[in-house]
Amino acid sequence: MKEIQTIGVVGAGAMGRGIAQIAAQAGLRVRLYDTSAEAVASAREALRQTWDKLAQKGKLGAADAQAALERVVAAGALSDMADCQLVVEAIVERLDVKRDLFAALEGVVAEDCILASNTSSLSITAIAAACKRPQRVAGYHFFNPVALMKVVEVIDGLRSAPEVGDALAELARRMGHTPVRAKDMPGFIVNHAGRGMNTEGLRVAQEAVASFAQVDAIMREQAGFRMGPFELLDLTALDVSHPVMESIYRQFYDEARFRPSPITAVRLAGGLIGRKAGEGFYTYVDGQKQVPAETPAPALPQNLKIWVSPKHPEGYARATALLEKLGAPLISGSTPAADALIIVTPYGEDVSTAVSAQGLDPARSVGLDTLYALDGAKRRSLMLSPATQPQWRDAAHAALAADGVPVTVIQDSPGFVAQRIVATIVNIACDIAQQQIATPEDIDRAVTLGLGYPTGPLALGDALGTTRILEVLKNIERVTGDQRYRPSLWLQRRVQLGMSLLEPAAA
Ligand code: NAI
Repeated sequence: MKEIQTIGVVGAGAMGRGIAQIAAQAGLRVRLYDTSAEAVASAREALRQTWDKLAQKGKLGAADAQAALERVVAAGALSDMADCQLVVEAIVERLDVKRDLFAALEGVVAEDCILASNTSSLSITAIAAACKRPQRVAGYHFFNPVALMKVVEVIDGLRSAPEVGDALAELARRMGHTPVRAKDMPGFIVNHAGRGMNTEGLRVAQEAVASFAQVDAIMREQAGFRMGPFELLDLTALDVSHPVMESIYRQFYDEARFRPSPITAVRLAGGLIGRKAGEGFYTYVDGQKQVPAETPAPALPQNLKIWVSPKHPEGYARATALLEKLGAPLISGSTPAADALIIVTPYGEDVSTAVSAQGLDPARSVGLDTLYALDGAKRRSLMLSPATQPQWRDAAHAALAADGVPVTVIQDSPGFVAQRIVATIVNIACDIAQQQIATPEDIDRAVTLGLGYPTGPLALGDALGTTRILEVLKNIERVTGDQRYRPSLWLQRRVQLGMSLLEPAAA
């Protein structure tokens, strides 16, 4: 393969100009084409402003900024792409239009010129099928904004020559991006792995477990994510993310793990699409997200006794260590005293299932989520059964908030909020690995860089304990009867064999 020095970018919209930017900054000559000449002119103007700003901030020399701009050349026609070693398309997301473009490009460029698509939802194999030389076609999926999102998915279509993907990966590194390699499957890696957070957050909301803001607060402050599902959906906006949810679900032939929610369908129809509309899961006043005030912690009742179920040894240890630290009036014994608050620490079960299995009084029972270490966590989740009485809810809330750490009180849910969302995220990533859509390392790399998760989902599963994640999923599946939670074979086998989720098959 020839060293790539001149690239064509077709489509001068948000993505095309971003790709042109990082390519020109890396010293490549860029030929920028768009059916709209104004789009090319406005892209060059936007690039000039970007580079001027970078130069003002001292991040780029003034001469380098000027040179970068000179390297981006407006192409008046597709035929101007003749000397390119690579053409990347970032045009409208329509298979027929992309196919026509690639067929036309084949008549212009040299035999060994690579044709790449920035599509996020179409099959690379399907785009390549219109080409005489489909082996030269691959996916090159950048994220928005291209210059800041330092990851790119390199997608091998069924007929893509491996050297084509290798060359794209090498070029990505030259442009300062991290390439990850993916098979041509719906959603590739990032949009596939991203199904977990959104669809499970929506299920939690649909079951009336907690409000949108409560779910987000738990995911941020208990599970350590930068954003919760509803903050994320408000940012991407439902006019973009609802169709993606439907499309990936359909492309996997109604795979329960990706099942979308009528919540977003209704909100989209009503125009409550997110931040850009001023109203989504949150309302925005002057661009500021409005968050409803939290219920303050009640006063601790006198003569309270607290009994923690020893059923789950780790949960018991975590709960009692915390309560002791908070100076809570703990009592011991194999069964609770008749006038004690009961705390259960289930994994993947709701309070109703846990107390009925353990023969405990539901009126006095609450659940405490102990999946994440309680020590140092910024938020705690307290769960009620439908029979839990308000005075016992308030007593538990008061005892658990004694040091001022906020407590979110949620309704009954198999797996609380964090357990079920996190287990779903890990499970989907495991299934991506099982299908060999990407290597385990690339899955984690793609998700940390593309979705901004604090750790990759496979490393997260290892850190929380693979056996525990499997237990959570099996219990949610049993309690709900929903295939959505069936554990991936990748996870099951690695638990059975004591392997890391990041470990591929040995042979
Ligand atoms: P955009 O709407 O901002 O820009 C598309 C540009 O392509 C427009 O300037 C339009 O005039 C031009 N165009 C349309 N048909 C053309 C044709 N046949 N030949 C030449 N130019 C043509 O779109 P955006 O957001 O830049 O997306 C472009 C592609 O990148 C799509 O395939 C999209 O799926 C993909 N993508 C978009 C992401 C995003 O967040 N916006 C993220 C990752 C991929």
